[in-house]
Amino acid sequence: MPKLTVESVGEFEVTQGKRLVLALEQDAGIDQLHACGGNARCTTCRVEFVAGEPDRMTVAERDVLSARGLSGIRLSCQIACEQDMTVRVISRLSGSGRKDAGHPPTAEIQPPPEWVAK
Ligand code: FES
Repeated sequence: MPKLTVESVGEFEVTQGKRLVLALEQDAGIDQLHACGGNARCTTCRVEFVAGEPDRMTVAERDVLSARGLSGIRLSCQIACEQDMTVRVISRLSGSGRKDAGHPPTAEIQPPPEWVAK
């Protein structure tokens, strides 16, 4: 099983292929934002990679990051835990002023992923 390390939080064994946004919430106990429910629209599920950044991304992630001029972050709703990774959590419910983290993301990456090189 891949090991997810959350900087300043801890290390967690994660089911192979689990969506990173769900691993952060369910395994690491992080109040990770996911305002659009994991559909590559809001970018509130963003994280910074310290190590183990996947070298592929979904077309949906690429397009929304590009449209918003974002770099240096990845969208946890568009990443599957296929390898050990270390992330820095930068978008939490706490301190956000939002009333909740967002609709629960489904188990599968949405929209259905089309993969491209990062
Ligand atoms: S882009 Fe909205 S939850 Fe990932």
